[in-house]
Amino acid sequence: MNHGKIQEALEWRYATKKFDASKKISAEDWRTLTESLKLAPSSYGIQPWKFLVIENPKIREELKPVSWNQTQVTDASHYVVFLYKDAIDQPYVDKYIQRMTEVRGVPAESLQGFKDMLINNLVKAPEEKIRVWSQRQAYIAMGFLLETAALLKIDATPMEGFSPSDYDRILGLEGSGWKSVATVALGYRHSEDSYQNLKKVRFADDTLIEYVK
Ligand SMILES: Cc1cc2nc3c(=O)[nH]c(=O)nc-3n(C[C@H](O)[C@H](O)[C@H](O)COP(=O)(O)O)c2cc1C
Repeated sequence: MNHGKIQEALEWRYATKKFDASKKISAEDWRTLTESLKLAPSSYGIQPWKFLVIENPKIREELKPVSWNQTQVTDASHYVVFLYKDAIDQPYVDKYIQRMTEVRGVPAESLQGFKDMLINNLVKAPEEKIRVWSQRQAYIAMGFLLETAALLKIDATPMEGFSPSDYDRILGLEGSGWKSVATVALGYRHSEDSYQNLKKVRFADDTLIEYVK
């Protein structure tokens, strides 16, 4: 993909306000979108996230009123709720180390130093620090999803306009160790969504990007 095409996709994308509910993302495109979530980087690679794809239309209807009645919740082809892990415990570290040994074919003993570091830096860290850190990781995956969608010419809306505690209740997350932090609606823009014609408001390059020489 060349520079011009990337620039074009970045300008084409916008936070879609109104989706065409009749248009669905193909299975092939969806696969690439989920790969972008899976392959997103995270601190230590520990992936303190989960992505709930809400397929059930009744649940989507239930989520809408606690999402400022935003129509994207029900009209988008796909609706993803980003969850973060609110604490990293020893079993989660063990699970990650186990996965590492399987994927890379290395003995667990060779990862002992890494494991100790994870325990010191994450398991033993103050809860609030981990909560904030974990949420940040989820936003990295969100960024990957948004960019991939744009490159595929799939519309998307990043959303924080919802009540996380109501989402956690409706989605049965209470007590699970997972909490909702953000969502992304994906699909195809409605031809009547006037937001697609708005110019992007961004600060000038030289105020955003400074070179330290
Ligand atoms: C984390 C985050 C949360 C957002 N929440 C909402 C939302 O709940 N509803 C909405 O319509 N747009 C939401 N937006 C979209 C922003 O308003 C939009 O990205 C911004 O105005 C820039 O416009 P553009 O994305 O069309 O270029 C959100 C964006 C981000 C990054």
